[in-house]
Amino acid sequence: MSRDQRMDTVARSVRPTGYGLPDVLEVVETPVPLPDADGVVVRVRAAGVNPIDWKLYSGAFHEVDEDEKDAAGLAEELPRLGLECAGVVTAIGADVRDIEVGAEVIVYPVTAAYADYVTAPVNSLIPKPAELGWTEAGALMLTGTTAMHTLHAAGVGPGDTVLVHGGSGGVGSLVVQLAVAAGAIVIATASTANHELLLGLGAIPVAYGPGLLDRVRAVAPGPITAAIDCAGGDEALDVSLAVVADPRRIASIAASDRHIEAGIKALGYGPGQDAGFAVRNAARAELAARAGELRILIDAVYPLTEAAQAHRDGINGHGPGKLVLVP
Ligand SMILES: NC(=O)c1ccc[n+]([C@@H]2O[C@H](COP(=O)([O-])OP(=O)(O)OC[C@H]3O[C@@H](n4cnc5c(N)ncnc54)[C@H](OP(=O)(O)O)[C@@H]3O)[C@@H](O)[C@H]2O)c1
Repeated sequence: MSRDQRMDTVARSVRPTGYGLPDVLEVVETPVPLPDADGVVVRVRAAGVNPIDWKLYSGAFHEVDEDEKDAAGLAEELPRLGLECAGVVTAIGADVRDIEVGAEVIVYPVTAAYADYVTAPVNSLIPKPAELGWTEAGALMLTGTTAMHTLHAAGVGPGDTVLVHGGSGGVGSLVVQLAVAAGAIVIATASTANHELLLGLGAIPVAYGPGLLDRVRAVAPGPITAAIDCAGGDEALDVSLAVVADPRRIASIAASDRHIEAGIKALGYGPGQDAGFAVRNAARAELAARAGELRILIDAVYPLTEAAQAHRDGINGHGPGKLVLVP
């Protein structure tokens, strides 16, 4: 009997024990979950790590009071970690049709995927493309759907010249590739160590930091018609506003109040931001269909028990691409 078919009774998961730094993460054992009537249980083979994972328990999104609860009463429970994964269906609910035990799937969106097993509704399942390894499959969808949302929001297409801030990151590396594939000329920022990578993805590389505006103007072959900010901060906003005539063609996935007041497209789940649920949901099938033409960059793979180290590496800065947990 294979690992996926074995009837485990106990499953590990990674949870925060409080708000703070990655030291608050611990591995706990619980019974293997049962499926809801309209859902499945998936044996996780790889779970993508994303910056939102540590932001959820760091207190970055809100003030935390002495009881480790959101001061506004919004967070009744500590967050469950792991918003994307890939794995094998091990159990199906009573009302589920058209999915079989043994199916290899990507699961997105999902919660609590930092685990051996995860429950998910069937509409979160996407068949895993055969050409994708587990690691890439588990790390594609959160960044990929975000990247597709940015291109949609900024209206990127043939004839555009697009400035991408943070082009070497999990989201940015896909934005670069998708924009090039859409027929745009792409100028992308990254640290100089990642400029060869950007060239390989089809972008004109530029170093971020003081003097960025001059460097961007020096390499631009013509007017810059759109900008996509995957980095956040004032520099990316100011340079984008200086080079793109129409602020509605600037999209940011790391927007502050200043970005929103500037009239650009702030994408995400915070106040004043566009979550783009319909665009992102539709993007899942397109990403799966086009997975073979994309380079899904994986920086590092960690065992599930090393989730805290993965988060430390993510917080302290890491190489290009995604961090991934493998149970
Ligand atoms: N709104 C949404 O829906 C959404 C979805 C996903 C992610 N996000 C957010 O988007 C951001 C990026 O996510 P990610 O997964 O792509 O992170 P990531 O893989 O860690 O990438 C970070 C990128 O930022 C670049 N960078 C670092 N410092 C910079 C600076 N001072 N100026 C410009 N670029 C800089 C890095 O370049 P080097 O490594 O070359 O230095 C790298 O390309 C995070 O804040 C994340 O929380 C938002």
